[in-house]
Amino acid sequence: MGVDSGLPDFRGDRGFWQAYPAYARLGISFIECANPEHFAADPSFAWGFYGHRTNLYRDTIPHEGFHIISSWIKRNSADYFVVTSNVDGQFQKAGYIEERILEVHGSIHRLQCQTPCSNQIWHNDEIIRVDQGSMRAHHPLPRCGGCGEISRPNILMFGDYSWLSDRTHIQGRAFDRFLATHADRRIAVIEMGAGSAIPTIRATSERIGWNQVHATVIRINPREPEIKPPHISLPCGALEGLRSIDALL
Ligand SMILES: NC(=O)c1ccc[n+]([C@@H]2O[C@H](COP(=O)([O-])OP(=O)(O)OC[C@H]3O[C@@H](n4cnc5c(N)ncnc54)[C@H](O)[C@@H]3O)[C@@H](O)[C@H]2O)c1
Ligand SMILES: [Zn+2]
Repeated sequence: MGVDSGLPDFRGDRGFWQAYPAYARLGISFIECANPEHFAADPSFAWGFYGHRTNLYRDTIPHEGFHIISSWIKRNSADYFVVTSNVDGQFQKAGYIEERILEVHGSIHRLQCQTPCSNQIWHNDEIIRVDQGSMRAHHPLPRCGGCGEISRPNILMFGDYSWLSDRTHIQGRAFDRFLATHADRRIAVIEMGAGSAIPTIRATSERIGWNQVHATVIRINPREPEIKPPHISLPCGALEGLRSIDALL
């Protein structure tokens, strides 16, 4: 969903390195970068990656597709719920309400202690300056108000045993209630750009598509759009797919 707002996806090492040439030079993969151990071992490196992404997502303007979906919700007086593995906060930015969003991997706009010394999750309103050439962040770096340690984004990373999942868990309960409330209703699951490498989102739409009697999944994806009928496969980008559906409506 972010790609059409100009954000990179991290498809394979090549996609990641294209977005971040500094890591290509160092030969470091996305999986190696997105590891919580760097916050203790080399906080400037860790915050270089996450600070750059924080700034990028803060500066991004959500594309028209976000508003096309809101216009369908309004026109049909429909209820909705957003489930995303993106951590970029673009749905909130586009006006979707916080109580109707499940961020399965957390959000870059929330912080937690790296230890963690408590279950505290707080808003990230830090200014983080990153040297674009070296991808290292300048001090001072965000710290935990409880113990003074360097803090980290409240995002699920690779090999991550310290991610605080409480916020995502609460969002997940709201999503379960939403599904239970609408069990007998017609549901359109619009899945956009959900990759098969980490198939959390794909599995969620398939589960709803096969388990809820009146649910139809519309899978929009330029590279991996396959889904069995009666569900619908659109082999194109998110914005193009949403515009095409909107034109038909
Ligand atoms: N903005 C963010 O928050 C952000 C950015 C990068 C990665 N991530 C997360 O990291 C994990 C791995 O990410 P990844 O990017 O390697 O995923 P990935 O490579 O598994 O998937 C990217 C998917 O996007 C599809 N895609 C590409 N362009 C598209 C477009 N214009 N419209 C619709 N679909 C399009 C591809 O076909 C692919 O299925 C995921 O959990 C992802 O959410 C988040
Ligand atoms: Zn702490």
